[in-house]
Amino acid sequence: MALLEIKGLTKRFGGLLAVNNVDLSIERGEIRGIIGPNGAGKTTLFNLVSGTFAPTSGTITFDGEVVSGKKPSHIARAGLVRTFQRNALFPSYTVLENVMLSRHIQSDETLLKAILGTDRRDEEMNRARCREILAFLGLTPYENDLAENLAHGHQRILGIANALAVEPKLIMLDEPVAGMNPTETATVTDHIRRLRDEWNMTVVLVEHDMRTVMETCEYISVINFGELLTEGTPEQVSANPKVIEAYLGSEELEI
Ligand SMILES: Nc1ncnc2c1ncn2[C@@H]1O[C@H](COP(=O)(O)OP(=O)(O)OP(=O)(O)O)[C@@H](O)[C@H]1O
Ligand SMILES: [Mg+2]
Repeated sequence: MALLEIKGLTKRFGGLLAVNNVDLSIERGEIRGIIGPNGAGKTTLFNLVSGTFAPTSGTITFDGEVVSGKKPSHIARAGLVRTFQRNALFPSYTVLENVMLSRHIQSDETLLKAILGTDRRDEEMNRARCREILAFLGLTPYENDLAENLAHGHQRILGIANALAVEPKLIMLDEPVAGMNPTETATVTDHIRRLRDEWNMTVVLVEHDMRTVMETCEYISVINFGELLTEGTPEQVSANPKVIEAYLGSEELEI
């Protein structure tokens, strides 16, 4: 069975079907791209899978467990996490504190306990693990800086570090390179590949930057008006007239 299996997933907001009967199957070790024009339903899909919203109908099975309708903390503990399209940081805490707080909060501890810390030995282990995550993502030089003082690119990477804090099996990245310059983008692309290659992680990437998607993902699912339009390799998807048509007028597609 695939690591993430989505069947007939639907989310209705009033009269709007933001996600409409989507089936997706993501295997262990994949780097999967999810693309589609603005408003297609990509972030809503992430919100459903991560437990931020309950689906109107459909099922989500992760690592053999039905997780649809479960709380985000339950889903995070099961090993599935997401980043946010906009920064979701603790701005007035340091970079290291951000990752440590995320580790506690995602696993559903109270904020007070997260701030006070747990058992001292556990805390030392947590700290060491969080520092490994920062080192992996090149953030060690900033670990004592306040999150709000980081450059935009580093804030976005800290968002990834915070998601990684629970040591997930699968990470969903919502537009990780948005607003980044080409050098920062290349750094993040490299991090994504190394997450899979060195940490055996499965990655689902929503991104408008087509070059990043085409270079990083082996397989791409295209969403349009909440529905799965098509799936295929980067070559197949970029040559598909239905995909080109979906993007016409949006001026986003520069393949
Ligand atoms: N909480 C909400 N309440 C009502 N409508 C919503 C809500 N969240 C999203 N929508 C609507 O659902 C549709 C899909 O939005 P979503 O944010 O999932 O698109 P997206 O593919 O992530 O777009 P973008 O590429 O611009 O980030 C949009 O029409 C949006 O306005
Ligand atoms: Mg979005």
